[in-house]
Amino acid sequence: MGAGIAQVAARAGFAVVMHDVTEEFLARGIKAIDKSLQRDVDKQRLEPDEKDAIIARIKPTTDTTFLREAFIVVEAATEDLAVKTEIFKSLDGIVSAGAIFASNTSSISITKLGSVTQRAERVIGMHFMNPVPVMKLVEIIRGAATSDRTYEEVRSLTERLGKIPLECHDSPGFVSNRVLMPMINEAIFTLYEGVASRESIDGIMKLGMNHPMGPLALADFIGLDVCLAIMNVLHDGFGDSKYRPCPLLKRYVDAGWLGKKSGRGFYEY
Ligand code: CAA
Repeated sequence: MGAGIAQVAARAGFAVVMHDVTEEFLARGIKAIDKSLQRDVDKQRLEPDEKDAIIARIKPTTDTTFLREAFIVVEAATEDLAVKTEIFKSLDGIVSAGAIFASNTSSISITKLGSVTQRAERVIGMHFMNPVPVMKLVEIIRGAATSDRTYEEVRSLTERLGKIPLECHDSPGFVSNRVLMPMINEAIFTLYEGVASRESIDGIMKLGMNHPMGPLALADFIGLDVCLAIMNVLHDGFGDSKYRPCPLLKRYVDAGWLGKKSGRGFYEY
């Protein structure tokens, strides 16, 4: 998702520093951006030289010191509280004090992430949807300490990115994943219990509810490890058994079948 976020920011005219932990991950990100923009070139919605200019506005790097001058940092690391906390702590000492720290977390508490920094009032959730270049929504999450000024700046930035900001407060899974993920988890239970085949489950939801993708295909697309992490946040956060992750989801993650990104999930890729 980080690559998608870098792409929409560069396309909106911003200079972007795209940071990752290895050169290999950066190269993969640039390749994804190139492929995504090429779709628009092929459909004659983007000139080839505009595509080159967008990519030239992105500086890929493994060196966090290039983030020093950023006015906003959007974190899109693994959905793991310890990983995100470590990033926020370390960037707090590098990035200028007035800069905003946004997290693209799909369920982790913004209040908790803010509390590990010296700038909790400048910390906010900016939750993009996959595929980032296509989906209009950015769910904007206010932590307990997020200031109105930070919220206003991020709301207006989101509009400059060509997206629609919708606000919510900090709560496990926010709105998007509190509603979406139990539906996906329930679809996995229907498969687990042999109620229907994967094709039937997805077909019923696509044709019956007009969803663009069935829930199992969507889970593969999101990443089964991400789905499990979100269900765990809901389960722990609310202490309610209705959010227990389906054993089949756990088993797939244990097997390394993480969906599209690993070549196998509920479907084969
Ligand atoms: N980059 C740029 N454009 C892309 C793209 C990408 N990566 N992927 C698809 N597109 C574009 C295509 O070019 C096409 O554009 P036009 O119609 O303008 O020509 C359009 O999107 C539709 O693509 P396709 O025809 O290839 O395929 P499709 O009609 O099956 O749509 C889809 C693909 C947009 C992914 C659609 O299936 C969909 O909307 N699926 C649901 C996605 C969803 O629910 N996302 C949210 C997941 S939850 C999340 O992200 C948050 C979380 O915390 C878990």
